[in-house]
Amino acid sequence: MAIRKVARMGHPVLRLKARELTREEILSSDTVKFVNDLLETMNEYGGIGIAAPQVHESLSLAIIDYQEDDENPVPPTIIINPKITVLDEKTQGFWEGCLSVPEIRGLVYRPRKIQVDFLDLEAKPKTIIAEGFLATVFQHELDHLFGVLFVDRVEFSPGKSPIAFTEEYSRYLTPREEDDIGELDD
Ligand code: NI
Repeated sequence: MAIRKVARMGHPVLRLKARELTREEILSSDTVKFVNDLLETMNEYGGIGIAAPQVHESLSLAIIDYQEDDENPVPPTIIINPKITVLDEKTQGFWEGCLSVPEIRGLVYRPRKIQVDFLDLEAKPKTIIAEGFLATVFQHELDHLFGVLFVDRVEFSPGKSPIAFTEEYSRYLTPREEDDIGELDD
């Protein structure tokens, strides 16, 4: 196991469309080792998800480790070769962060309900339907596999601050309850 170096915005690897893994690759010991490195890196940096391109590997593999309930922890979800289908076009806004875009937050609106079809670490097909906050977590993470960063999805308009440094965000922009906007740290 090893903590990998995280690629930051500007590194070309974050802008590539990641290559899908073959069944043989998924079942190889190299992939198990790589997933362990990704987990260790994610935990070191405190993310709730990480994608292979973020550690300079342009492979279609990501991990989501979102704990809804600290009392009943669930194991991280390993997502390989995913396809996303939008089930509800209605959008919801979250202030997103990213290990590859440190010290920055951006307000991003994404569809509120999606389906993700993918392969697990045993190369078996799986389907997850995600709503609300989890839908945003999945979309943010899987965007990394298509060369997209959350900053690409921020809608700018004159006189507004939809993107901010973390410190200014905390000081001036933390969502009020009535805003119906959440926060995502990954
Ligand atoms: Ni990210």
